[in-house]
Amino acid sequence: MKIIDSSPGSTSRRFILSGAIWFLAATAVGLLAATELVAPEIVKQKNLIFPRIRPIHVNTNVFGFLSMLLVGAVIYAVCRLCQAELWSERLGNWTMWLWNLAVVTGMISLSMGYTQSHEYAEYDWAIDVMIVVALLLLTYNLLQTLKRRKEQLLYVTNWYVVGALAATLVVYVIGNVMWKPANGALAGMTDAEWAWFYAHNIFGTWITPLSLGLCYFWIPRETDTPLYSHLLSMIGFWPYFAFYLQVGTHHLIEAPAPAWLKLIAEINSVALLIPVFAFLTNQWMTLRGNWWKIPDNIVLKFLFAGTVFYFLTSTEGSLLALPSVERITHFTDWVVGHSHLGLLGFSGFIACGAGYGALREMHGRIWSERLAHLQYWLMLVGIIGFTLVLDDAGSIQGHAWRNGEVVYRVLPELMQDYILRAILGCFIVTGAAIQVYNFYKTTCPQISPADERDARQSAEVAS
Ligand code: HEM
Ligand code: HEM
Repeated sequence: MKIIDSSPGSTSRRFILSGAIWFLAATAVGLLAATELVAPEIVKQKNLIFPRIRPIHVNTNVFGFLSMLLVGAVIYAVCRLCQAELWSERLGNWTMWLWNLAVVTGMISLSMGYTQSHEYAEYDWAIDVMIVVALLLLTYNLLQTLKRRKEQLLYVTNWYVVGALAATLVVYVIGNVMWKPANGALAGMTDAEWAWFYAHNIFGTWITPLSLGLCYFWIPRETDTPLYSHLLSMIGFWPYFAFYLQVGTHHLIEAPAPAWLKLIAEINSVALLIPVFAFLTNQWMTLRGNWWKIPDNIVLKFLFAGTVFYFLTSTEGSLLALPSVERITHFTDWVVGHSHLGLLGFSGFIACGAGYGALREMHGRIWSERLAHLQYWLMLVGIIGFTLVLDDAGSIQGHAWRNGEVVYRVLPELMQDYILRAILGCFIVTGAAIQVYNFYKTTCPQISPADERDARQSAEVAS
């Protein structure tokens, strides 16, 4: 294996494989975190205590699993839409290694206790620099590819990719307060406003637009149907970026942030339903007449589930941003449920489906479709179960605390939900392990299980 491979498709394939490996690593750490919340005494090692592994779980999921799998799939989609190869596979490979280095360094340094202590911005300054450089290299490579495109039409997937890269570069540098390398922080309430501007936007300008762009690419492609409406894709795109950048303060409704800032965040959070429903209508109307294809087509199956989870997360999110609702749900596991529904249910399912789609087209088939369907069901049971148990735990906490109950008296009531979360986590970790194996076997020049069966049968007949 060449460390820097310049063959066509190598950057995309390697980003996708890296994303799959990080999915397994991050969920295994999540499972350990969930187990520690049930049995804190099981871990004696300082590097593995909950406050250290929680940020490892979160950041490895966001920057390892989702970012790398989505970027790999996006590179594939942009090249197909441009009818061109990636401008520089060598540069792409360097970018991929740099990105992996950032995630590995992040895991090690967080386990050693080096953290900037802002959610989703825990990575130290040196790692922030690696991520920003990797983003710049990726942006340059993709813009050069777009410039040399043979197909003149700039399809909507490309808008989302360019929008995501441009906005994330700004959001990442500002949000991590990178001009203050020592702690990446401002002071007082401004620091909290800054931090939440960043935190929600890392989903709003990075993870979500890449996921939406991939739906625009794969759903029409797999159904062999033109996109339902160009107008709806414009309504889904422009208001999305216009509203999203203002929503960060909805995390601070229970904090002493200025009232006008909270109001702006609340209004924009509800207004976001306009682009969300424009996007969903567009995708589901494209699927009209093609529903029968979903159960057997693993790419459509993952993507369609992702759109349903997008509907659920966004509708729930707009409600969570209302002060009357947040008064109960804030500081509870309901929010953790919402996070998993969005990141695993919506973007995780889309990333996995798009990864399978890209690898299937690159290698002519998926090594085992059966295993891919098994992975889908394991993840589906896992995420639906997660949502139910975390919402249950959240409503117990929210109502108890509202009634003046003290925290330690509520904890025993949460235990059954926490045990169930750990059990359901095993489903998701198994799904992630299947994905690593299936992706790896798909990319190896080997025969599929069906071919192996045929070969065995022919050998038996011959003997
Ligand atoms: C219309 C769309 C959405 C709205 C209005 C919305 C709203 C909210 C609100 C109000 C909270 C804070 C709740 C609290 O702290 O009390 C929240 C948390 C969160 N949301 Fe969303 N959400 C939306 C979509 C999404 C999507 C699509 C994702 C994932 C891709 C997502 C990921 C998260 C995460 C990870 C948190 C937890 C942040 C934390 O406290 O660590 N949201 N959302
Ligand atoms: C085996 C599967 C998983 C398990 C067992 C698990 C478990 C956990 C646990 C125990 C926490 C800490 C909750 C707390 O502080 O009370 C957490 C937080 C979080 N996890 Fe996971 N997780 C899993 C999969 C995932 C995946 C696949 C993603 C993203 C794609 C993800 C994203 C997050 C995020 C963003 C948070 C922070 C939530 C917040 O503060 O609102 N997790 N997870």
